[in-house]
Amino acid sequence: MPLVNPSAMLLAAREGKYCVGAFNMVDHLTLRAIIQAAEWKQAPVMIQTSSASVKDLGIPAIVAMTRQEAEDSPVPIALHLDHGTDPEVVRQAIREGYTAVMFDGSQYPFEENIARTRDVVQAAHAEGVAVEGEIGIVAGVEDDIVVRQDAAIYTTAEEAIEFQRRTGVDFLAAAIGTAHGFYRVEPRLDIDTLRQIAQAVPCPMVIHGGTGLPFEVVRQLVAAGGAKMNVSTQIKQTYIDSLYDYIQANRKQYNPIKLLTHARSALVEMIGQYMEVLGSAGKAGEGVSTSG
Ligand code: 13P
Repeated sequence: MPLVNPSAMLLAAREGKYCVGAFNMVDHLTLRAIIQAAEWKQAPVMIQTSSASVKDLGIPAIVAMTRQEAEDSPVPIALHLDHGTDPEVVRQAIREGYTAVMFDGSQYPFEENIARTRDVVQAAHAEGVAVEGEIGIVAGVEDDIVVRQDAAIYTTAEEAIEFQRRTGVDFLAAAIGTAHGFYRVEPRLDIDTLRQIAQAVPCPMVIHGGTGLPFEVVRQLVAAGGAKMNVSTQIKQTYIDSLYDYIQANRKQYNPIKLLTHARSALVEMIGQYMEVLGSAGKAGEGVSTSG
């Protein structure tokens, strides 16, 4: 089916108390693995690209390959720009066929974040594209965005409510202690605040930093109202580790298709497991409205 605007799938997740996985692709192999896992698990899914992938592949190529794969697939697939900080890149993604964009204005003071995010919401909604905003600062490394643990700023429920009301974002990322990348120390999660915000705002909540959280914690975050969870670092780790393993075991074999198929199978397995834990498995038929 055509790429979908993810608003309906995330509202269905919020309503049904499960969570849609948003997985970062880095190339065609990871894109196909994410979609194959979604088909296997009959799950709605969001494909995301970081700014590093946008620089590497270019928006036209990302849109073309994702559109093609989505057209050929029976499950609902959205294409989302992760952590858009450059307004020009955000505008290009909106123009060229992404069905959702994140505008990450979290480095700006509160009022400026609101004003900049509101501008993006207006431009995106005019094209039928959904918007994720961020309030507070999520720690860790997301490609070229690096935030130290002690520089993370937790979101308060009051700020989140005001931010959502004044910007009109379709889904909202709040900093509640998860971090991008691997956890070097155990994260200090503020699950109560997530629950309060999720109950108070009319839009679905997004959890960043899905890699490295014990599955029991993932379930608690979903129960507290997380409707979209981002997973990026685990994709890269599984991808690279599976390539190393295969090459080590088959050092004299020169068959790239076998090598890449091995990596894709490992990714499908790992992503499918996330879909089970998030509760999105079996939900492909819910909340579909197409655009793009
Ligand atoms: P991880 O890299 O920790 O999975 O976080 C991904 C993320 O939140 C992307 O925005």
